[in-house]
Amino acid sequence: QHVPVITVDGPTASGKGTLASEVARRLGYHYLDSGALYRITALAAVRAGLALDVAHEHTIAKMAETLPVRFAGGRVFLGDDDITDAIRTEEAGMNASRVSALPAVRTALVALQQSFRKLPGLVADGRDMGTVIFPDAPMKVYLTASAAQRAQRRHKQLISKGISTTIDTLRADLEARDHRDSSRAVAPLKPAEDALLLDNSSQTIEESVAQVLQWWEGKH
Ligand code: C5P
Repeated sequence: QHVPVITVDGPTASGKGTLASEVARRLGYHYLDSGALYRITALAAVRAGLALDVAHEHTIAKMAETLPVRFAGGRVFLGDDDITDAIRTEEAGMNASRVSALPAVRTALVALQQSFRKLPGLVADGRDMGTVIFPDAPMKVYLTASAAQRAQRRHKQLISKGISTTIDTLRADLEARDHRDSSRAVAPLKPAEDALLLDNSSQTIEESVAQVLQWWEGKH
């Protein structure tokens, strides 16, 4: 494969999306938000009235394979419905974590994720980008931040959207989600063996972006 890929994996609310999309923008690369695909799948399953458990694993996997999803003008559509905001709630994140633990669902989304790998290059963020989806990526980043920092940032984001919640609730939720994501049997959240570790607890976004771009330049 000659199409370069930079993978950015890490726990919930570590800032992967912000970092990965900005690095993609600077390099003129495509961007894959793989978590969105699990969020969309979970939403489609909930709307179809399915419980998000093994009893419906294969039905949900079938849905994932044929999702009528469209990305246009920064919005996400499921069929004709604009689901951009619906997939960003905390509940949608937790539901995504549930369906993502079902192996058949993960398998169903592999080809779609790999199809984002196009010239001039791709930056992909998620939990298993470096370990499972793009194991041959020339550069893999594993992004972390302390749970306290992550809860605080998420809190600020939600408050700015007018959603009220407490830092303690958010911290408990994100730790529960991390635990489920790290302990599942298939494609658990963990750094790839050849990943570069980046802890952005005390970094600004610009500093993290600059670090990743510097690493990337060092590869050439
Ligand atoms: O990154 P985001 O919070 O949008 O991901 C939502 C959920 O989707 C995660 O908690 C995780 O369970 C799942 N996910 C995954 N593999 C990925 C990306 C996300 O299992 N590559």
